[in-house]
Amino acid sequence: MDRNIVVKNAAQLVTCSGNKAKVGQNMSDLCIIKDGAVVIEDGMIKAVGRSGELVDGMDITGYEVINASGKAVLPGFVDSHTHFVFGGYRAEEFSWRLRGDSYMDIMERGGGIANTVRSTRRALKEELIVAGGKRLDSMLSFGVTTVEGKSGYGLDLETEIKQLEVMQILADSHPIDVVPTYLGAHAVPEEYKGREDQYIDYMIENVIPEVTARGLAEFCDIFCEKNVFSVDQSRRFLSKAKESGLKLKLHADEIVQLGGAELAAELEAFSADHLLQASDIGLEAMARSNVVATLLPGTAFCLKEPYARGRYMIDHGCAVALATDLNPGSCFSESIPLIFSLAALYMNISPEEAVTALTINGAAAVDRADTVGSLDPGKKGDVIILEYPSYKYIPYHAAVSCVEKVIKSGVLVYDKGSRKNKFTF
Ligand code: NIG
Ligand code: FE
Repeated sequence: MDRNIVVKNAAQLVTCSGNKAKVGQNMSDLCIIKDGAVVIEDGMIKAVGRSGELVDGMDITGYEVINASGKAVLPGFVDSHTHFVFGGYRAEEFSWRLRGDSYMDIMERGGGIANTVRSTRRALKEELIVAGGKRLDSMLSFGVTTVEGKSGYGLDLETEIKQLEVMQILADSHPIDVVPTYLGAHAVPEEYKGREDQYIDYMIENVIPEVTARGLAEFCDIFCEKNVFSVDQSRRFLSKAKESGLKLKLHADEIVQLGGAELAAELEAFSADHLLQASDIGLEAMARSNVVATLLPGTAFCLKEPYARGRYMIDHGCAVALATDLNPGSCFSESIPLIFSLAALYMNISPEEAVTALTINGAAAVDRADTVGSLDPGKKGDVIILEYPSYKYIPYHAAVSCVEKVIKSGVLVYDKGSRKNKFTF
């Protein structure tokens, strides 16, 4: 029974078939197979099709068989933007924001990211592993099978490496696949205040070489924002990162329209994220350069900011991905159903488009569209089974997870039904 599973009789098998990001109208095409089945062998998808044709008459010796009758089956979700490794919390700052202080006000008086940097520098590696592992467990329960995780709460060499090592340890020990991103350019550290360019030199000369030599990160990201890093500084930093072999992402045009979307297109980044204030010209450039627009509605919700223009982006040819942005400040939530409902209700993204945004387009944002994000033969056997017969229940059952089972690389790793503390009705 080693990593061999057959899921059969699914009310709908939502394959999201494809091996690259979907744009425009194609985002609505989920390639659904009714009464579907998926066969996983050695952890990889061997075949998908109608149950009658695929499974009836098949020799199922050596396979675990799951009957998904009355349930929808989808690819595992890809959460392509998170900051899940951090020390300490910022519940107090959340209260200040409720009182009216802005995210940037708090940051400017030494709170915000700098607050978490202090706690993460102090934290033992073991503490970060335990906390990060618990967060991954929670993500798994929401159907996430691949997650991107960023450093950026150390800023100095030692702590950035510590965060990336924690991600490497969790990648090796937890079922969820972890895609590591170096985000040293998340903020200017205290010790470099007013000397942003020197901090960029420090990262280029000291941190990137160590990170790349040890293979600790696959992507490099920057917070390109007014009073953080300018477009010119971001260009200089990311160009060097790219020369060193790192793939690029940007936190772009989140609070002020700075031109981050345009820069992402110019540098051929894999994604530009947030984009609440992105210009029409920047979005057009992104569409032309195949940069995935990763939208994070949980952050707009928690910061009480207007949502990014998801509808406009899809209508203008951008590939849109959705992600949680889980972090201790602007969005302390790993809830995929919350993100899904917000996108559907407030960004006019249809449930079909949201499924694409959380599967194949999320996979494209982390350069994994050839291995995950759809139920296609040859891809990893990452599959989720819902409690309900359609993906349409995800936004409808607002902010509550509909995920009943999660299969990662052919192993059943989460089963809601087997919770020990459950009352039986
Ligand atoms: O993606 N915008 C910058 N970075 C994070 C927030 C990090 C924090 O507040 O700790 C974000 O929202
Ligand atoms: Fe972020």
